[in-house]
Amino acid sequence: MSIKILGIGAYVPEKVLTNFDLEKMVETSDEWIKTRTGIEERRIATPEQATSDLAYEAAVKALKAADIKAEELDVIIVGSITVDQVFPSTACILQRKLGAKNAFCFDLEAACSGLLYSMEVANSLLQGNPKYKKILVIGAEKLSSVVDWEDRSTCVLFGDGAGALVMGKTGAPGGDCIVASSLGSDGHYTDILQIVAGGSRTPASAATVANKQHYISMAGSEVFKCAVTAMVHSCKKVMKEAGITAQDVRWLVPHQANYRILRAVAGRLGIPEDEVYMNVNRYGNTSAASIGLCLDEIARGNLAEKGDYILLTAFGGGLTWGSILLKW
Ligand code: ACO
Repeated sequence: MSIKILGIGAYVPEKVLTNFDLEKMVETSDEWIKTRTGIEERRIATPEQATSDLAYEAAVKALKAADIKAEELDVIIVGSITVDQVFPSTACILQRKLGAKNAFCFDLEAACSGLLYSMEVANSLLQGNPKYKKILVIGAEKLSSVVDWEDRSTCVLFGDGAGALVMGKTGAPGGDCIVASSLGSDGHYTDILQIVAGGSRTPASAATVANKQHYISMAGSEVFKCAVTAMVHSCKKVMKEAGITAQDVRWLVPHQANYRILRAVAGRLGIPEDEVYMNVNRYGNTSAASIGLCLDEIARGNLAEKGDYILLTAFGGGLTWGSILLKW
């Protein structure tokens, strides 16, 4: 038996918000956004769509690609910082929508590293317990709901979307899909990337709303430096653990934060830019969803061959980070 990715699916909302649209909302320019971030447009969910609705669309596609029914799922894990509501979990809400009545379900909060953390947990459950055979792992975000649309330093960066993977045990040859992994956290930097209000320390109140404390706040340049260091370090660790070099990697798939971060990471690893998967120009930073969106495009576009090494790496609030080496 080996553990494989059985199916991948993704969803982005229809509405496109371009840099030119943002020029009409805040004091910014297409030129500034493109030069500093690589982002040209992002997708924005409708007011009626919650994160579970985006997750549902991606999940249905992943189940179809895996050719399994929702009832066959043993576990559902949703990585998100924009859950539908504080509780119940978005994973439980999604379970109801899918009819995945045999699964146990929970949310996992690791910001932009949410999908990689969820994959690691799913892989460990599959490895460690014979009763778990099929797990749905999703990174889904409606970041437009936590962005201050009057703050040009953050509102130009984020977008909405969802990426889903079905991981499971099969009799297929070739070994497990996850060859090596390395995850990390550092709680010393909780304040450089956060949403301050709405939790037990600063519950929602008229004052927190007036002070815009329910929106993402970020010390951009500090995050930038920490992101590059952490992703490079964890990528090196997994390559070493797997006994491969950067030349063996077919695709580096980093969390799509900012193309300057992605280029810096690739440069330090010695991976050429045309082997770095990037769609940040079309979707912006979709936090936990971004790596799933990339993997879906790689799968649908047949951009990798069986046996190729795909190096996933992410970084986010917490701080959290991690890398996973996949054998496609
Ligand atoms: N349009 C025009 N000017 C702007 C904008 C904008 N949208 N935003 C900021 N500026 C201005 C600033 O006010 C500043 O002006 P000043 O020099 O007069 O003070 C100037 O541009 C430079 O600002 P910096 O913040 O120094 O710009 P920087 O080059 O660092 O780019 C950015 C900012 C894009 C946010 C970058 O720091 C970054 O990408 N950081 C990482 C973000 C990230 O990766 N987050 C990932 C995690 S997200 C998560 O976990 C949910």
